[in-house]
Amino acid sequence: MNNKIVVKVYPTKEEAAKEIAAEIAALIRARAAEGREAVLGLATGSTPVVLYKELIRLHKEEGLSFKNVTTFNLDEYYGLDGTHDQSYRYFMNSELFDHVDIDKEKTHVPDGTVPPDRVTEMCEKYDADIKAAGGIDIQILGIGRTGHIGFNEPPCGPETRTHQVKLNDLTIKDNARLFFHGKIEEVPTSAVTMGVGTILDSRKIVLLAWGEGKADIIYKSLMEPPTEKCPASWLQKHGNCVFAVDADAASKL
Ligand code: PGA
Repeated sequence: MNNKIVVKVYPTKEEAAKEIAAEIAALIRARAAEGREAVLGLATGSTPVVLYKELIRLHKEEGLSFKNVTTFNLDEYYGLDGTHDQSYRYFMNSELFDHVDIDKEKTHVPDGTVPPDRVTEMCEKYDADIKAAGGIDIQILGIGRTGHIGFNEPPCGPETRTHQVKLNDLTIKDNARLFFHGKIEEVPTSAVTMGVGTILDSRKIVLLAWGEGKADIIYKSLMEPPTEKCPASWLQKHGNCVFAVDADAASKL
């Protein structure tokens, strides 16, 4: 097996977040010194919140500016507009963008409101916009218990681009429990997501996972050969991917 993923186990998620935020800050500052943009790929869900808190602290207490930062988010629910409090645009604004000096015009989240006959066009433009920005420097990922990255649910090959997907029942259940006030009927049944191929184009990928609930899928993603049954397992083929996990998520390794 030719698994190139580097695994870093941290005592706590706060310690992981501190180190990753410092790496992101160094990238942003190095690019600013060259008069260039840093391009970040961002994720939603409960996992990256601790990282965004640390980035906000670096902005407020250590003068880190986001003026030269462009971002692309992984995904968005289909059917929710950015003012809906469960949309990923709303999440990104309230968890990060509203608290730093980023130009919102340079923050991209797939548009969940385009009519069905324009979804493909919107997805192709999303991939083209990432390319036009110079590609993603660091892509942050969470992982679902189905092995999804972004909303790429199994079965999913390594070459998909940004596209519309039907959500897996376990994902709908997890997201209702965590976010939609427990109301499963309110969780949209489809989403728009960067593809696994889009994600693999990033120059560096950092997948975050905390807690025992992720231990099985972290084991599978790392230890079993890449398979459509576990989209995160395709990360084994990327040459610059780190799994940053806490001790509980690493407990089955
Ligand atoms: P979570 O979701 O961060 O809320 O656990 C991760 C994911 O589904 O990708």
